[in-house]
Amino acid sequence: MSIDKDLQIEKVLEILEERVFQRAGRYLSKAEKLVIKGSWEGKDYKEIACNSGYSAYYLQSAIGPSLWIMLSDVIDEGVKVKKTTLKKVLLEVVRKDLLKQEVSKLDSDALVGKTRTYGELPEIASIYGRKEDISYLKNQIKLFKQRCISITGIGGIGKSVLVAQLIEEILIENSNAYDYVIWKNVDVCSSLDEIIRDIIKIFNLQLENEPLIKQISLVAKQLRLCRCLLVIDGFEKLAQSENFGRNKKLEYEHFFIEITKEQYQSCTIITSQLPLKEFAYLITNLPILYFKLEGLEVHAAMQMLYEKGLKGEECKELIDIYRGNPSELEAVANKINRYFAGSVQKFIECRTTVIGSRFQLMLHFQFGHPGFLSKLQRQVLIYLAEQLREDPTPIKFSEIIKYLKKQLGELSISEVIADMEILEQRSLVETTTKANQEEVSYNLQPVVKKYILIDPLGFVREEPDKTQINNYIQAVNTR
Ligand SMILES: Nc1ncnc2c1ncn2[C@@H]1O[C@H](COP(=O)(O)OP(=O)(O)O)[C@@H](O)[C@H]1O
Ligand SMILES: [Mg+2]
Repeated sequence: MSIDKDLQIEKVLEILEERVFQRAGRYLSKAEKLVIKGSWEGKDYKEIACNSGYSAYYLQSAIGPSLWIMLSDVIDEGVKVKKTTLKKVLLEVVRKDLLKQEVSKLDSDALVGKTRTYGELPEIASIYGRKEDISYLKNQIKLFKQRCISITGIGGIGKSVLVAQLIEEILIENSNAYDYVIWKNVDVCSSLDEIIRDIIKIFNLQLENEPLIKQISLVAKQLRLCRCLLVIDGFEKLAQSENFGRNKKLEYEHFFIEITKEQYQSCTIITSQLPLKEFAYLITNLPILYFKLEGLEVHAAMQMLYEKGLKGEECKELIDIYRGNPSELEAVANKINRYFAGSVQKFIECRTTVIGSRFQLMLHFQFGHPGFLSKLQRQVLIYLAEQLREDPTPIKFSEIIKYLKKQLGELSISEVIADMEILEQRSLVETTTKANQEEVSYNLQPVVKKYILIDPLGFVREEPDKTQINNYIQAVNTR
C-alpha cells in the first residue's frame, strides 16, 4: 500500500489522537500537535517555533521529551519514538490502521490483499491484554508451521475474540499470507457433516453424495494444495448433536488425522470448551498444539475495569473472584455501575457473587447436556462446592477419594483420575499443588461454586431429561 505521498498530516494526527485518547485518556495539546506536525515536515525546533507563539527552548525541553515517551508508550510497537524517527513510525501506524479498518469490515467473501475471507468473524470493539498469547500463537503458525491448534477454555474467557484478533494481526502484517481465511461458526444444531459440506462449497468442489469420510479427505487435500487458515469456532457444540456417539468418534478421528497428516501451508484452529480428546480416542498422538486460554492478566483486566469506570485496589479482588474472565468482568462491572454507583468496595462488602448470563448459559450447557458430565463428576462437584462453602481451603485428592468410597463403596481410582482431568480441562475445577511432592488439591472458582450450590435449573443434582434439554436449546436458539 503506498500511502505516504498523499497522506495529509491532519489525517495522521486524527488517527494518532484517537490512539492517544484510548491509551492515555487525554487529547494532544496544541504545542504537542505543533511539534508532531513540524517533525513530520522535517523541521527543527527553531523552525517549528517560528511564528507559533512558543519559544524553541520551551518546545524542545518542556514538550518534546515527554511527548516522545508518551508516544512510544501509546504506539507500543517496541520502538522508541524520537523526533527523527517520528515520520517513519507514524507511517507504519497509519498503514496498520487503514488495513485494520479493511480487515475489521471483513464480510463473507471479502478480499484483503490476496486473501479471500469467508464467514463472520466476531467484531472486536476493544481487546485488552492477550499480547503474549497472540504473539505465541502467531509464532507457532508462522515459524513452527503448526497444522492444527486447539484452543480450549471456559465459555466467555475470550477464545473467539483472541482468534479474531490473531487473524487480524496476521493479515495486517501480511495481507497476502493466505489464499483463504475461513471462519466457521458451529451452531447449536450443527454437525461435522454440515461443516465439511460448507467448506467443500467454499472451495467450490463437487462432492455431494460421497460418504463423510471421503468428503473429509477431500477437504484435507484442498488444505494441502492451498494456503488456508481455517477456524472452527465453538467446537463443543458438536457434542450436542443427536448422534454424537461411537461412530461419530471414528469420523472425528478421521477428520483430525487428515487435517494433521502432511506438511501444510495451512493451519486449522479449533476453539472449544471441551478438550478435543473428548471427541476422538486416538487424538493424543497427532501433531496438534494444545493451548488452554486462561483469564486476562491483572493489568489488562484492571485497564478494562478502569475503562468501565471502576477504580481502586478492590478491583484486584474482583479480578481474582472472576479469575480474569473478561465476559464475567464486563457483566459484573455493569452491575456494579448500576446497583452500587460504581463502588467496587460496596459490592465486595456485600459478599455476593453475580453470575453473568453468558456464564450461566455455559454452565446450563455443561450440566444440562445428557452424558456431558458423569454421575461421579457431578458428585465430586457438589461435594467440592459444599465443602468449600464451609471452609475455602482447597480439598485434597485423598479427601475426595475418601468421600467417594464412603458414598459408593467400590471405586476405580483410575476412573476418578480420568474424570478429574476432564473437569480440570474444562475449567470446572481448579488445581493447586503447593510443593513438588504434595498431592493435588481442588478448588472451585466462586461463580462455578455458586452455580452448583443454587442449582438454578435443577440441572446439577439431576441430569435433565430430553424434553427439558430441547426446551432449553430452543430458548438459546431464539435468543
Ligand atoms: N481480551 C479481551 N478484551 C476485552 N474483552 C474481551 C476479551 N476477550 C473477551 N472479551 C469479552 O468477552 C466476551 C466473550 O468472549 P468470547 O471470545 O466470545 O469468549 P469464548 O469464545 O471463549 O466463549 C466478548 O464478547 C467480549 O465482550
Ligand atoms: Mg466463542
